[in-house]
Amino acid sequence: MSETKKLFIKTYGCQMNVYDSERMAEAMGGAGYETTTAIEDADMILLNTCHIREKAAEKVYSELGRFKGLKEAKPDLKIGVAGCVAQAEGEEIVRRQPMVDLVVGPQAYHRLPEMEEKIRTGARALDTDFPEEDKFELLKSRPKGKRAPAAFLTVQEGCDKFCAFCVVPYTRGAEVSRPVDRVLSEARDLVDRGVREITLLGQNVNAYHGEGRDGRSRSLADLVWELDKVEGLERIRFTTSHPNDMQDDLIAAHGECKKLMPYLHLPVQSGSDKILKRMNRSHTAESYLRVIERIRAARPDILLSGDFIVGFPEETEEDFQATLDLIKEVKYGQAYSFKYSTRPGTPAAERPLVDDAEASDRLQRLQALITQQQRDIQNSMVGREVSVLLEKTGRLEGQMVGKSEYLHAVHVGGNPGAVGDIVRTRIVESLTNSLAGVRI
Ligand code: SAH
Ligand code: SF4
Ligand code: F3S
Repeated sequence: MSETKKLFIKTYGCQMNVYDSERMAEAMGGAGYETTTAIEDADMILLNTCHIREKAAEKVYSELGRFKGLKEAKPDLKIGVAGCVAQAEGEEIVRRQPMVDLVVGPQAYHRLPEMEEKIRTGARALDTDFPEEDKFELLKSRPKGKRAPAAFLTVQEGCDKFCAFCVVPYTRGAEVSRPVDRVLSEARDLVDRGVREITLLGQNVNAYHGEGRDGRSRSLADLVWELDKVEGLERIRFTTSHPNDMQDDLIAAHGECKKLMPYLHLPVQSGSDKILKRMNRSHTAESYLRVIERIRAARPDILLSGDFIVGFPEETEEDFQATLDLIKEVKYGQAYSFKYSTRPGTPAAERPLVDDAEASDRLQRLQALITQQQRDIQNSMVGREVSVLLEKTGRLEGQMVGKSEYLHAVHVGGNPGAVGDIVRTRIVESLTNSLAGVRI
C-alpha cells in the first residue's frame, strides 16, 4: 500500500463551492488522499475559486504567487485550480502562473482522480468541459463516518437567467436539476451520518425541476415535501432563489411544512425599475414587493435576506434612493451588498460606469441602513424562545453554539446538550453578530 497523500483545499465564493470542495475531497479520498488543514504538509493544493467579482478572481493569482516557496521546498507538490475562475480563464491561468499543474472546471470534478494520475507523471491536466454525464453520480459515493449536523446539498447546477452583470451562466453552464431520487438518497446518507439540517443549493434553486420517479418533473416544493418525510432530518432550507420563480406551492410550503425553516434569501439587486430592466432581472420593484407580501402572508415570522448591487452602470442617485426605499419597506434580517464589478464578456461590461467614489459612498449608505435593520431584528429576538441546532462547543465553559430557525448564531448556556441536538432556548442578550440564550 502506498502512503496516504495530503490534500489542502481552500474554498472561495458561494455555498455551491463549499459543497463541491467537500465532494472533491471525497473523490480524492478514493485516490489515496486525505485532507489536511496544514498547507506545509500538503502534497497537493487545490484552490476552489470564484469569478463573481474582479477582486475575487484576482485573489487567486496573488494566492498562487504565495505558493512559490512551498513548491521550491517540495518540488513534488502539485497545485490545482478548480471552480469558476478555472472555468472562465482556463489556459490563461497556466500562462499567468506556470507552476499550476491542473485546471478543472466546476462540471468536471468527477474526472479529478484521473487528472491527478496524469499530473503525477509530470504532465499538465486541463478540463473545462461541460460533459453530458452527471458529475454527482460519478463522484465516488460519500463516506459513512459521522459529520457536522448541518450540510449543503446541491440539487441544481448552472443558471439560465443571464442577468447582465453576472458570470454564473458562463462559469456554471446551463441550468440542470438533479432527479428527486438521487437527492433523496444523498439526503438519507447524510442523515445516517448525523445530519439534521440540509440546505438545498442551486444558483436559481426555486426553479428546480428535477425528474420524479414517474419521469415527470417536480418542483422545489415537491422536493421539500419529499424531504419532509425523511426521518431524522429536522430542518430544510434552500438557497438562492429568484423572485420570478417563487411559485404558489413553494410559498404555501413555507406556511405548512414544519421542517422548512422561516428564512428566505431572495435577492433583488436594485429597487429601481430602470436599473432592474438594464440588469435583465425581468421583475420590477413592485412585483418583488408583492412576492414578499405573499410569503409573509404564508409565514408572518419569516426572516428575509437579500443581495444588492450598487453603482450598476448609469445608476443615478434617484435610482439608488429607490433601492433604499425598497429596503426600508422590506426590512431585511440579513443582506449582502456589493459595489458593481465589471465582468468581461457580460452585457453590462459595455455600459458607462458610475464614478467609483460615488459608488463607494452609496455602498456605505446602503450598508448603514441594512446594518440598522439587522440589529433591530436581532435585538427584537431578546426574550423570545427559539430552537437552536447545536453545531459546536462555545468559547465559554459549558456553552454550545448553533443556529436558530432564523439562522441567527446563538450561544446557548445552561446545560445546552450535545452537537446535533435541537434545543429550545430563551434569548437573553443580543451581541454584535450573534445572540446569547439559555436552554429551557
Ligand atoms: N444566483 C444568485 C446569486 C449569484 S451571485 C442570485 O441570482 O441571486 C451572488 C451575488 O453576487 C448576486 O446576487 C449579486 O448581488 C452579486 N454579484 C453578481 N455579479 C456581480 C457583479 N458583477 N458585481 C457585483 N456584484 C455581483
Ligand atoms: Fe447570476 Fe442572475 Fe443567474 Fe443569479 S439569477 S446566478 S445573478 S445570472
Ligand atoms: Fe463564485 Fe462561481 Fe459561486 S463565480 S459565487 S463560486 S457559482
